[in-house]
Amino acid sequence: MKTALITGGAARIGAQIVKTLHDNNFKIVIHCNRSLEKAKLLSDNLNSISKDTVKVISGDLNNIDNISTIVESIESLDLLVNNASVFYPKSVENSEIEDWDNVLNVNLRAPFFLSKGLSKKLANNDGSIINIIDIHSDKPLKNHAVYNISKAGLKMLTQTLAKELAPRIRVNGVSPGYILWPEATKEISDIEKKLMLERIALNKQGSPHDIADTVLFLANSDYITGQIINVDGGRTLNQ
Ligand SMILES: NC(=O)c1ccc[n+]([C@@H]2O[C@H](COP(=O)([O-])OP(=O)(O)OC[C@H]3O[C@@H](n4cnc5c(N)ncnc54)[C@H](OP(=O)(O)O)[C@@H]3O)[C@@H](O)[C@H]2O)c1
Repeated sequence: MKTALITGGAARIGAQIVKTLHDNNFKIVIHCNRSLEKAKLLSDNLNSISKDTVKVISGDLNNIDNISTIVESIESLDLLVNNASVFYPKSVENSEIEDWDNVLNVNLRAPFFLSKGLSKKLANNDGSIINIIDIHSDKPLKNHAVYNISKAGLKMLTQTLAKELAPRIRVNGVSPGYILWPEATKEISDIEKKLMLERIALNKQGSPHDIADTVLFLANSDYITGQIINVDGGRTLNQ
């Protein structure tokens, strides 16, 4: 069985990536930070389907020391999915150094150093890396300055790693459009949501399954590297 590490894998899109990969015969390492209880529940559930196939590691990716702890705890790896992310509204004017550090550390520095730290183990297995990016890595989302910058950086990181880690490791990205509304913010009104949906060619939100299925496709492909697939119902047609 191949082994996959999914950061931020306890909830929402990350949890669906975990389930889809597990359904498709991957052993799983769920990384989480605050959602340890959710991660344990998910892990218990999947281990009851297939014994000793899932384990949980936790750590705040804002802290660089935790990256080496995670790297050292992994014995063998076939797939790294950099999914963990920080997302909240902040205009340029209101953004402080703490926002810059927190968002860039989790969304960009952590994927860089996890990829670097795990590259030998991935190369040993001809493995791959999949970064979960965002369609706003190309066109900015208003009032999310530092987030936009972090995801633009993650896109470039994907292409850079694809070049440098070839031929042993393939590196690709998935850019979701509007899949799940953020849990932490209540700032998106129903009217704003309606306006957002109207700009999607397919007139509907995507589901975490759409993202997880694309991750699975990229994980199983043998001749795709350096590519970023938008899974956005055609949202970028109207950007
Ligand atoms: N939701 C969407 O519609 C959408 C749209 C575009 C792009 N995306 C991208 O798709 C991915 C998944 O989206 P999502 O909405 O499911 O993400 P999310 O719920 O906002 O965050 C995913 C996970 O990131 C982890 N995380 C946050 N800060 C962390 C830290 N300091 N250290 C370690 N882990 C941390 C959290 O883990 P814990 O809960 O364990 O703390 C959280 O469960 C993200 O990369 C996101 O940017 C999503």
